[in-house]
Amino acid sequence: MSLDYKVADLSLAEFGRKEIQLAEHEMPGLMATRAEYGPSKPLKGAKIMGSLHMTIQTAVLIETLVELGAEVRWVSCNIFSTQDHAAAAVVVGPNGTPDNPQGVPVYAWKGETLEEYWWCTEQALTWPGGDGPNMILDDGGDATMLVHKGAEFEAAGAVPSPDSTDNAEYKVVLSRLQESLKKDSTKWTTIAKKIKGVTEETTTGVHRLYEMHNEGKLLFPAINVNDSVTKSKFDNKYGCRHSLIDGINRATDVLIGGKTAVVCGFGDVGKGSAESLRGQGARVIVTEIDPICALQAAMEGYEVKTMDDVVEIADIFITTTGNFDVITADHMKRMKHNAIVGNIGHFDNEIDMAGLEAIPGIEKIEIKPQVHEFRFPDGHSILTLSEGRLLNLGNATGHPSFVMSNSFTNQTIAQIELFTKTSEYPTGVYMLPKLLDEKVARLHLDALGVKLTEMTKEQAAYIGVDVAGPYKSEHYRY
Ligand code: NAI
Repeated sequence: MSLDYKVADLSLAEFGRKEIQLAEHEMPGLMATRAEYGPSKPLKGAKIMGSLHMTIQTAVLIETLVELGAEVRWVSCNIFSTQDHAAAAVVVGPNGTPDNPQGVPVYAWKGETLEEYWWCTEQALTWPGGDGPNMILDDGGDATMLVHKGAEFEAAGAVPSPDSTDNAEYKVVLSRLQESLKKDSTKWTTIAKKIKGVTEETTTGVHRLYEMHNEGKLLFPAINVNDSVTKSKFDNKYGCRHSLIDGINRATDVLIGGKTAVVCGFGDVGKGSAESLRGQGARVIVTEIDPICALQAAMEGYEVKTMDDVVEIADIFITTTGNFDVITADHMKRMKHNAIVGNIGHFDNEIDMAGLEAIPGIEKIEIKPQVHEFRFPDGHSILTLSEGRLLNLGNATGHPSFVMSNSFTNQTIAQIELFTKTSEYPTGVYMLPKLLDEKVARLHLDALGVKLTEMTKEQAAYIGVDVAGPYKSEHYRY
């Protein structure tokens, strides 16, 4: 059967393949996982639907899952984050050609509309012949949400009208579900029943999973990959430290040194983002709602203020909270001329873009794709990045390979866990065992020339751990 897919341009595959080969060298965890599990193929029989930024690093993850025996279908989890050469290379595959693609079905391109985005998500959840996946690998929870909402509305016998919500994106979700249910009234229930589990990449998606589980609505087990130490304390922090300024630079090329930058939120992403801007010589001010994180920011030497205190004086504003309406339309009205406003949290509602566009008399001018000037009626402007969506992936290429190797090795191990030990995971949200977290870190040490000290048996007994780990208690916070 010929491969089904929709990407921007298969002729980009050769460029994509060259970058994938460079990335493989920088992803020692994933390559070691291939070497360890490739021969035994623990994912044979797994049909994995992935919804995660379709980048070069993700290409290495996809091809690792395939090497471990899985059948895979993929979409991006953001309308701007696809790297078209990566998508093309994955479709063509290592042994195919653009005329004879032999890789993995991908439905993703940079600059999808919301309608296209949700169409793509449904395509990746639908195997040829109508069957669904038995595993989901999610980032932000959109694929998991579509399956759950579909099943919920099937049980209720109807999909609510898109007019019942003011949320532009949810309107699109409801239209898509109305359409799919017209064709098959049991599609999502059937798919949900066959899913053994989901592994979730990010803070926002994990938050959604715990919420569904607490409400008794979760339909299958989930592994929270985000809170593996080797994920959130590395990707969220050091990844953003790298990719935040990359995004700002590529978008605006403004000198960051000497500017006043506000980072909203001082969690893992906020810590990396503040350091990223400070590293360029910006004067960084943090906003926080949590006294512990606010105190941490102060101890790191950042001023901690409220948005109202700083909205008129800062040059760059970055949201990192996973919350909504953190920067409001009123804030943006009050900002300095050409202040830069961007978000590095998962969803675009951290900045009230809808409220900004609705200001009477406001003019939206595209400087280039994903960089917009909003000119207020009084003549002053602000610049928004990636229309409020995560700017490190919209304006740049996201996190670099080495840090993503940590995250994606966790993802691969989590997929193997849930797929091969399904009966050990009743519906609920789980974390990977600490020993596996330590294993992920261990796989990345050699590449950096790290020499680990080995304890003596006596030392291990003295601090009450095993020589081979795990080395810390579950409540240790790193
Ligand atoms: P976190 O929970 O560690 O940090 C969020 C912080 O924001 C918390 O300290 C919280 O107290 C604070 N906060 C909440 N509401 C606030 C408000 N109104 N004003 C100021 N501060 C507020 O979460 P983490 O891991 O830092 O993730 C943040 C977001 O970034 C999530 O949406 C996550 O999915 C996303 N993410 C994005 C990545 C990227 O590459 N762009 C990478 C990893 C995560």
